[in-house]
Amino acid sequence: MDLFQKCDTDGGYFGMFRARDDYYFTRPILNPIPDTQMEFQGKKVIQWSINNYMGLAQNEELKAIAVEAAKKYGTSAPMGSRMMTGTTLKHLDLEKDLADFLEKESAILFNYGYLGVTGTIQSMVDSNDVIIFDKLSHASMVDGVLGSQAKFRVFKHNDMDSLESHLKHVNRDRKGGVLVVTEGVYGMQGDLADLPNICALKDKYDARLYIDDAHGFGVMGETGQGTASYFGVHDKVDIYFGTFAKAFAAIGGVSASNKKVVDWIHYNARTQVFAKSLPLIFVEVLKRSLEIIRTDKESRNRMWENAKKLKTGLRNLGYNVGEVQSPITPVYVPMGDMEMGMKIVQSIRNLGIFITGVMYPVVPKGIILFRLIPTAAHTDEEIQMTLDAFKKVRDDLGLKLDQMPSGT
Ligand SMILES: Cc1ncc(COP(=O)(O)O)c(C=O)c1O
Repeated sequence: MDLFQKCDTDGGYFGMFRARDDYYFTRPILNPIPDTQMEFQGKKVIQWSINNYMGLAQNEELKAIAVEAAKKYGTSAPMGSRMMTGTTLKHLDLEKDLADFLEKESAILFNYGYLGVTGTIQSMVDSNDVIIFDKLSHASMVDGVLGSQAKFRVFKHNDMDSLESHLKHVNRDRKGGVLVVTEGVYGMQGDLADLPNICALKDKYDARLYIDDAHGFGVMGETGQGTASYFGVHDKVDIYFGTFAKAFAAIGGVSASNKKVVDWIHYNARTQVFAKSLPLIFVEVLKRSLEIIRTDKESRNRMWENAKKLKTGLRNLGYNVGEVQSPITPVYVPMGDMEMGMKIVQSIRNLGIFITGVMYPVVPKGIILFRLIPTAAHTDEEIQMTLDAFKKVRDDLGLKLDQMPSGT
């Protein structure tokens, strides 16, 4: 069989979506300027699907810093990997600021969150070690684990009995180290990892803890220090990871830990050792956005108030939005079949509200999950228009919101 033959089929991980490839449900084309309103299919829609938590995506001061940096350095500087020609004083300075903010001895920048997660995990383990990770971990973590030399085990989502039984099992015949891997805020459903108990268990069984806090970094805790900080266990986290692609509205990522661990990652994370350094445009922008994230209480409060208004409003309309402590607002709608699920998405989008839905296997059969991301930038009017749309669709389509399929 020819290697390319598979490309004529709907196989592959996202085959079903590839087969559809309609630029509406899959790869929807949006005007690229990220804000609370964006253009879709030629008209303005209120946008609930981007992770611009603190509303920094349209911050004029940050744009001006980026423009100045581009004028000074061009778009590529520094050219080369960190180990060769890619380290500047500004990279070191930002890493110091990040380490201080995260109250760790040291920090290392990555070009993408995905590369930071995979590179950090893979650098820390060898074939004697075991990784134990949460079943709902993001693909970057799964890829980090699968691309490493370590053995691995998977614990049931946020289930401490399951985690403990794996830790016990591994400790019976232990040859190397154990790395527990979890997210801080689970990005699809918005629930928080049970970090106090995870920290207690990793101490009890002499393991190390790595947290990918992509959705908690800049969001959770009083200053945005993250989900562990929210729970008061930040000092227990051995390696903390955050991406700049969400609350920071930029690009890149950071791992923070003690100095010797970060030094080790610098020389062993292949996704950074063999990649070009983060451009100075982003380094300069991130220095200021970190300051804003840390000090801008007003935007932080607005983000939480908007999340509360949205969740309460949807709940009052009869929608199931779960009970999550992050701003993420998951809306679980019983949909019957897939056609009905698509009809719901289309009806809401036709009313000028851009949402995306996920179905089985992310959620149980018979349910469509809409993940709404309230941000500091959304206005009361935009929230009200969204609630009005959800109300109209509920009534027009006769959604039976109280009839969740069994087992959910
Ligand atoms: C939990 C988690 N980890 C890592 C990533 C990858 O981050 P980035 O988009 O910065 O590459 C994401 C992005 O979706 C994420 O949600």
